[in-house]
Amino acid sequence: MAPDDAPALYAALAGDEVGRYLGGPDLTSVEDARARIERVLRGPGTAAETWLNYTVRLLDSTVIGRVEATVRDGMAEVAWVLGEPWWGRGYVLESARWLVDRLAEERGPIDIWATVHPDNAASRAIMSRLGMVEQSPPYEYELGSWDPGDLVYAYAPARSARNGLAG
Ligand SMILES: CC(C)(COP(=O)(O)OP(=O)(O)OC[C@H]1O[C@@H](n2cnc3c(N)ncnc32)[C@H](O)[C@@H]1OP(=O)(O)O)[C@@H](O)C(=O)NCCC(=O)NCCS
Repeated sequence: MAPDDAPALYAALAGDEVGRYLGGPDLTSVEDARARIERVLRGPGTAAETWLNYTVRLLDSTVIGRVEATVRDGMAEVAWVLGEPWWGRGYVLESARWLVDRLAEERGPIDIWATVHPDNAASRAIMSRLGMVEQSPPYEYELGSWDPGDLVYAYAPARSARNGLAG
């Protein structure tokens, strides 16, 4: 993701429906998008955590959304947001799989966690398609994206390895 993606990202993600389960709009203006991008590119300011943010594009370069991962302690907290015109076409599953595969390639076995509003059926289905399983509280990690009432999903190859179970 680059600051110059701000206008296209804002245009893609400005629809009201995008923020329905996010507690509000994902981006509120081009300026907000640019400031957010610049902030995430600066990173968290601690070596203990890494922020990864990617703009999702079609092959013709049209910007359709974004995916992100916050990595720490052998785990990554992931999220995805696509613009409404591109829902229902499998793009989010492809983007999410790319993110998860890239994390595994670069970092080896890594647990993947995500939070989701209980009514966000499409996102819950994506999590299941990725092999993620709904977790019960208390959760192993404090999750930055968790809001009261959210469900938590995880795919935990690293935890399985720690517990001596097959991957
Ligand atoms: C969540 C989001 C990424 C899903 O993308 P999408 O393109 O709409 O997802 P899809 O249409 O591919 O649907 C994914 C799955 O959910 C299912 N699904 C979609 N809407 C559904 C509904 N209302 N009820 C039940 N299942 C539903 C689809 O059938 C599909 O399942 P399948 O792969 O087994 O066929 C997209 O809606 C989005 O960006 N929303 C705004 C941001 C957001 O909520 N991000 C997630 C935060 S956790």
